[in-house]
Amino acid sequence: MRRPLVAGNWKMHGTLASVAELIKGLRRQALPAGIDVVVMPPALYLAQAVAGLEGRGVVVGAQDCAVEPLQGALTGEIAAVQLADAGCRYVLVGHSERRLLLGEEDAVVARKFAAAQSCGLVPMLCVGETREEREADRTLEVVSRQIGVVLEAVGVSAFARAVVAYEPVWAIGTGLTATPEQAQQVHAAIRAQLAAADPSVAAGVRILYGGSVKAAGAAELFGMPDIDGGLVGGASLNADEFGAICRAAGC
Ligand code: 13P
Repeated sequence: MRRPLVAGNWKMHGTLASVAELIKGLRRQALPAGIDVVVMPPALYLAQAVAGLEGRGVVVGAQDCAVEPLQGALTGEIAAVQLADAGCRYVLVGHSERRLLLGEEDAVVARKFAAAQSCGLVPMLCVGETREEREADRTLEVVSRQIGVVLEAVGVSAFARAVVAYEPVWAIGTGLTATPEQAQQVHAAIRAQLAAADPSVAAGVRILYGGSVKAAGAAELFGMPDIDGGLVGGASLNADEFGAICRAAGC
């Protein structure tokens, strides 16, 4: 059985004061046993979140890492080894906002995935199609290319220490959630792609859904056979709403 995972991607939100409030709210949540809960604050607030959530069953991840795993001359970037040193356990790679707004390509995503793993972080590989790609019936082709580039670069065994997040771009921040059936179809295709390389790795890898996940509707999504939890954006900035989503993953 795969252990459900709910991750909150805070994106570029927060101040010292609002992060303190959010941490306070998260500490008050009754979180179900048997699931993993992760929050991903902006890098500036990682240490604050690690300290504030210690011992509360919520671990911390980063939103991105450098292509190079170790410290070095790479102005403005943060190395995976530094994220691990700060107490992070996970890191997002290939979020669509980075792919589409910052031009991050598949090959760069694959390097970040490898860099993260080489420092003991669990990469959370984000994939997903745009609205135009879905309308052109290219969803599975796009997602399979995004997975395939990383698979080729790191090998299937690396997916035993990784998480995949399917985030259709048209559902991110729009209030439009994929239906459980739409999401399940893509999750099953991702698992089948991995299974073609190694069935046991594929059976164990957690595939999260992201895109306008709210507490209402979360249980239906998480009830689908290949949906192992959620990657939550906007709703993760509200501790009570995020707590309710985590509880939906626990039942
Ligand atoms: P929203 O939940 O705000 O749609 O964001 C999803 C997302 O991009 C999480 O990484």
